[in-house]
Amino acid sequence: TAPPLDQLIASIAVDIPDFPEPGVVFRDLTPVFADAGAFRLVVEALAASVLEDPRVAALGGGPADQGFDVVVGVEARGFLLAAAVALAAGTGVVPVRKAGKLPRQTVSADYVLEYGTATLEMHTDSLVPGQRVLLVDDVLATGGTLEAAVGLVEQVGGVVSAVSVVVELPALGGRERLRPHTVHALWAT
Ligand code: PRP
Ligand code: ADE
Repeated sequence: TAPPLDQLIASIAVDIPDFPEPGVVFRDLTPVFADAGAFRLVVEALAASVLEDPRVAALGGGPADQGFDVVVGVEARGFLLAAAVALAAGTGVVPVRKAGKLPRQTVSADYVLEYGTATLEMHTDSLVPGQRVLLVDDVLATGGTLEAAVGLVEQVGGVVSAVSVVVELPALGGRERLRPHTVHALWAT
């Protein structure tokens, strides 16, 4: 029988000590994305993550509702997942990009992540007010990145249904930082 998804991911992902700087253990998921079977299971699990949450009823839809109307993904690794999750869920996908890449009016947020600082941007008109968002990324570490992304989604009128990631590093406190938003992680390590 197939292993549980967290064990499958753990068996394929690779840990790289001291990348990109000393003291950081980098969780490389590229081999998971490159594995057709694992990628499909990961994408389907992320697409179903809100639906499987008992709190989904509070998010307002009927029995066939997935709990979100659009997927938002964070550049760059989040893009690999977000477009696939949107296709699986039958929704569109909206990008949160690193600064300077989006051509029209944007909102922006500076943030600190486990190994540096950066700025994220989103088109001001990229969401319909009240649109329910599944926010997707590959790794939740300190939560700095996804906290900034949540702020942008809310600034442009979106409502975050949940934040879903492939791997969470619980020691870095990202889940607590994102409260009261719900975090779904396929693997915690
Ligand atoms: C990585 C990862 C998350 C973020 C998590 O992205 O894909 O977005 O770091 O870290 P945090 O929880 O401490 O904020 P990175 O900025 O390295 O960019 P990339 O996707 O372009 O590789
Ligand atoms: N993004 C932030 N911290 C990370 C880590 N330890 N591994 C992979 N991506 C990350």
